[in-house]
Amino acid sequence: MLVGEAPGYHEDRQGLPFVGRAGDLLEKLLERIGYTRDDVFIANVLKCRPPENRDPQPEEIELCRPFLRQQIEIIQPAIVCTMGNFATRLLTGKSDGISSVHGRPLPFPDSDDIRIFPVFHPAAALYTWSNLALLEKDFDVMAGLISAPDKHQPEVEASATKPEPQVEATNGEAEPEQLGLF
Ligand code: URA
Repeated sequence: MLVGEAPGYHEDRQGLPFVGRAGDLLEKLLERIGYTRDDVFIANVLKCRPPENRDPQPEEIELCRPFLRQQIEIIQPAIVCTMGNFATRLLTGKSDGISSVHGRPLPFPDSDDIRIFPVFHPAAALYTWSNLALLEKDFDVMAGLISAPDKHQPEVEASATKPEPQVEATNGEAEPEQLGLF
């Protein structure tokens, strides 16, 4: 299962996640590790498009949280790949930014059967090409995690202290804050 941020213009019109340019890149990243979008479930933190594609607001995240929870409960994924800061912070319940936690499995607070695997949001690679190499590398690591899950134990704690460089293709970063899980 993969979780992004919020529908954009094309996603809003089609009612499907990741069907725009970020979606094209996501499909390429999946292909790279031998999957198509039919093999995975793709969701977003927000279920509606924020006006002007602005960042999700805390109250919007809170309103949509039960829907994502139900999606995870129904899908029962072994791995939830959180794409970008919003999904990662929401599902880990921690404020660590994606730059410090990407590419390594983390525990899912509500279930030992699920692991979180944070990666940069694909849109970050549309604007900054160096992020593409990081995404490709992380997808390769995730493929290894899928094929040999016991080799990669999740880290117990993510460090909550390091300030975060701005790498996301979003309109400004939300203040780091501790987010409760669901
Ligand atoms: N970005 C997201 O986070 N989600 C989408 O569905 C499309 C772009």
